[in-house]
Amino acid sequence: MMRTAISLMLTLAPLSALAAEPQVEIVAHRGASFDAPENTLAAIKLAWEQNADASEFDIFLTKDGKIVVIHDPTTNRTAGVAGKVAEMTLDELRKLDVGKWKGARFAGEKIPTLDEMLATVPAGKRVFIEVKCGPEIISELDRVLKASGLKPEQTAIISFHAEVIAAVKKVRPDLPCYWVVSLAPRGQKPRTAEELIKKAKEIQADGLDLSANAEILDKTFGDKVKQAGLKLYVWTVNDVELAKKMIAAGVESITTDKPGWLREQLAK
Ligand code: G3P
Ligand code: CA
Repeated sequence: MMRTAISLMLTLAPLSALAAEPQVEIVAHRGASFDAPENTLAAIKLAWEQNADASEFDIFLTKDGKIVVIHDPTTNRTAGVAGKVAEMTLDELRKLDVGKWKGARFAGEKIPTLDEMLATVPAGKRVFIEVKCGPEIISELDRVLKASGLKPEQTAIISFHAEVIAAVKKVRPDLPCYWVVSLAPRGQKPRTAEELIKKAKEIQADGLDLSANAEILDKTFGDKVKQAGLKLYVWTVNDVELAKKMIAAGVESITTDKPGWLREQLAK
């Protein structure tokens, strides 16, 4: 009797361990940006330390045609120095400090290049590369991605700009591409599943990366997206209850500023 009980416990142990893992992909937003300065090498390395499944970050093209990792079109907020990324060279941008605004211990952190960020990606993990500018970045993006040695499935491209997704898919149909959409843009009508699915199909997107919203994105909405053959992801969730509602709606991936913390909370 006792031996049967022990063997039953051993059989069930791996199952309970599996049940403790969140059933969604946890994506670090701009790296582990709650704890480290967004869109820096420190932030993406911390995301991997926090066991994120993936990390998101934002890219722009410099004046001299290089790809840098920064969220805003200007350097004002994160470097404390006025400047437009598209009108500056890589050398000029590299002189700036984008760490110290987050804390003295991050002083000296530079604006990274895309290839530096890609070099941190561990085997089995992936990145969501958000194109913040227009399609003019695509030929250099293609070159850097090929030189990185990462597999196409490790380098997803995301963008609010539908024309960027369409253009990337034309050049690199092998790259996963997700269209980023705000579900309730200020002053506009909430977006519907039907209109988003139609547009996503037109631009050959592989999925939708939506602003998390429990009022709009319910299971009915989620089922429609997935039945259309599209992936369904959300950003940016730092609240456990909202994360659970998004999981119940069927999302497959959650972008968060706190990847380690969210994983722990969802495993409880
Ligand atoms: O993952 C998509 C999300 O990053 C879009 O918002 O403004 O943080 O780039 P934003
Ligand atoms: Ca982003």
